[in-house]
Amino acid sequence: MGKAAVASNRRPMYPMAFTRLLVSLVAVASVQAAVFPTGLYRRADPDVRIPLTFSLAQSNLDKLETFLLDVADPRSPNYGQHWSPAQVKETFRPSAETVDAVQGWLQDAGIHADKIKLGSNGDILQLDITIAEAENLLHAEYYLYSDEDGHLSVGCHDGYTLPVHISQHVDFVWPTMQFSEPRSLSRRSESATWFGRESGATTTPIDNLSAFAEAGCDTSVTLDCLRALYNFDFTPVSELNACYAVEFGNNIYRSEDLDLFFETYSPDQVGHIPTLISVEGGDPDASGTPSEATLDIELMMGLLGSGQNLSLYQVAQTNLSQDPTDRLLAALDGSYCSVAPTGSEGITDCGNKPRTSVISISYHLNPDINDPTISPMVKRQCAEFGKLSLTGITFVASSGDGGVAYSGSEECLLPNGTLAFNTNGSFVGQLPASCPFVTAVGATSVAAGASTDQVEESTTDFPSGGGFSNNFPRPAWQSSAVQNYLDNFVPDYNASVFNRSGRAYPDVAANGIDSGHTGGTSASAPIFASLIAAVNDARLAASKSPVGFINPALYSDAFAGVFNDVTIGSNPACGTEGFVAAPGWDPVSGLGTVNFEKLKAAFLALP
Ligand SMILES: *[C@@H]1O[C@H](CO)[C@@H](O)[C@H](O)[C@H]1NC(C)=O
Ligand SMILES: *[C@@H]1O[C@H](CO)[C@@H](O)[C@H](O)[C@H]1NC(C)=O
Ligand SMILES: *[C@@H]1O[C@H](CO)[C@@H](O)[C@H](O)[C@H]1NC(C)=O
Ligand SMILES: *[C@@H]1O[C@H](CO)[C@@H](O)[C@H](O)[C@H]1NC(C)=O
Ligand SMILES: *[C@@H]1O[C@H](CO)[C@@H](O)[C@H](O)[C@H]1NC(C)=O
Ligand SMILES: *[C@@H]1O[C@H](CO)[C@@H](O)[C@H](O)[C@H]1NC(C)=O
Ligand SMILES: *[C@@H]1O[C@H](CO)[C@@H](O)[C@H](O)[C@H]1NC(C)=O
Repeated sequence: MGKAAVASNRRPMYPMAFTRLLVSLVAVASVQAAVFPTGLYRRADPDVRIPLTFSLAQSNLDKLETFLLDVADPRSPNYGQHWSPAQVKETFRPSAETVDAVQGWLQDAGIHADKIKLGSNGDILQLDITIAEAENLLHAEYYLYSDEDGHLSVGCHDGYTLPVHISQHVDFVWPTMQFSEPRSLSRRSESATWFGRESGATTTPIDNLSAFAEAGCDTSVTLDCLRALYNFDFTPVSELNACYAVEFGNNIYRSEDLDLFFETYSPDQVGHIPTLISVEGGDPDASGTPSEATLDIELMMGLLGSGQNLSLYQVAQTNLSQDPTDRLLAALDGSYCSVAPTGSEGITDCGNKPRTSVISISYHLNPDINDPTISPMVKRQCAEFGKLSLTGITFVASSGDGGVAYSGSEECLLPNGTLAFNTNGSFVGQLPASCPFVTAVGATSVAAGASTDQVEESTTDFPSGGGFSNNFPRPAWQSSAVQNYLDNFVPDYNASVFNRSGRAYPDVAANGIDSGHTGGTSASAPIFASLIAAVNDARLAASKSPVGFINPALYSDAFAGVFNDVTIGSNPACGTEGFVAAPGWDPVSGLGTVNFEKLKAAFLALP
């Protein structure tokens, strides 16, 4: 199946292409745009004033990994001693040297000190100047662009130039940027409930959930299948309610769908709904598409049971040029508000939403390609995931449903730097899964006729996302596991096909329930996140901290016995067989699926 559904769900190329060309950022030389962006309207009037904003480089970012290892490496005496948000904010605030350097340069360029304002967090400089002054300052040409709805925005698609001694102090200059909306990783069609009634044309409707539940776990995955597969029999022992799902834009759930599911699989949860944390007015009762959110919520609420409440960050997306990840991150960390790389305009929830210990994200937001229009943004966002992890949050994300291609849209990278659907280009990963500070989860399924006592295989109904980042170097904590794969099992691809030195993912795997009914790595992430929430529950009861950033622990020797090593399967795309599953870590199923009791014991053994 898959193919037709994926193709029809595919968003048109227009927003992506427009996006990539409008975002132009380079430190020392202008980017040459290959073609004019669609939607180019006209040159901007030189006399019009624009609020030009410089996002200043953070201090100590080069030490982020070291700081994280200090609290997340199982061998560290400070394991689990997470930082306070204030400590994080103070440590990474731009230095006085940075502020002075940029301010001095602006004044030397003839911008009067009155026109330069330092933002209240000390992390941005705002200028009220004309287009002509901005063009002169940045050696740029500003244009107006219109989007599909005719809204005009201003930007410089040919890029801009900063002197080298200033570029090291500046992360971004606005306005220059534009981004597209997130794509849900759910593989279900609209109006479906999780392994409930499927309205998709490719599958048979299931009207009798009881009959469905009696089929084997190879064809119909129930909560009991998952409990058996991962040795997960959970009753909370602490007061913790700390698992959060994230839904973006119009991905909403319907309580009647949840009830249909609970009636069959978890009767004491009928009538239960997640606790809403609305970000920028996000409203799960609004009209929208119920597939992704319903899947995530049914899985997490169902696995955690009635003794734990799930919370839901419902993040509104009213402005397609703004990546909603930025809204989520700003809502959790007020210091991110003014520096969100896709623009702070319209962000009002600044650090005012509760933080939690496990956050599950079943979306992919940007392709992981090395591109001057994408790399600075994804690096800034990834650093923010790292900074939030330092305070004790575990971020879990789906690895994607497109194998070695850019998720469900199956885009690969052509030699001229463009992404194209279903071609023989090089491999493309996706954010946030490829960010090293996020735990990426690939998808498995029970082999035909197999029982839950047997180790699963990597999904065959769709290729589970995995590979190597083009933006993030490989962290030391996974180097020996990944090197083992590269030395012994990697297919013989030529060097341009994938980036051997990149962060490799997924880290782990969980059932992707693609039995022609529902699923994808969209299911795998919330399943794994639920297990981590249950680990935190046990640690809390033992007067220990939540686990926070778990990747260094997962790859450590102390966790070697925790995984069910998945060795069957591959993730073909981009005209290749992709990668193959193998003993040990592999870029299809990561370290494998987990045995919850062993996972819990390993984390309980840590300080
Ligand atoms: C649903 O399936 C169960 C188990 O096979 C069966 O006992 C029940 O009668 C079925 N219900 C309906 C409404 O068909
Ligand atoms: C879950 O939330 C409900 C309100 O929706 C509340 O009545 C219940 O006590 C909560 N359960 C736990 C375990 O906190
Ligand atoms: C959307 O957000 C961008 C970036 O913050 C901003 O420049 C633009 O004005 C916003 N557009 C609308 C229609 O609010
Ligand atoms: C990149 O190459 C592809 C395939 O050769 C071509 O179709 C596409 O138009 C090219 N794009 C640009 C921007 O040159
Ligand atoms: C991709 O490569 C395969 C062989 O490696 C070839 O058969 C196929 O035609 C190629 N497809 C495209 C679209 O170039
Ligand atoms: C490979 O990844 C590294 C970061 O790990 C990056 O610096 C390099 O540019 C990447 N190469 C390509 C071809 O994207
Ligand atoms: C890799 O493949 C490309 C396209 O087939 C080819 O042009 C290039 O020479 C190959 N590089 C190496 C190092 O084999």
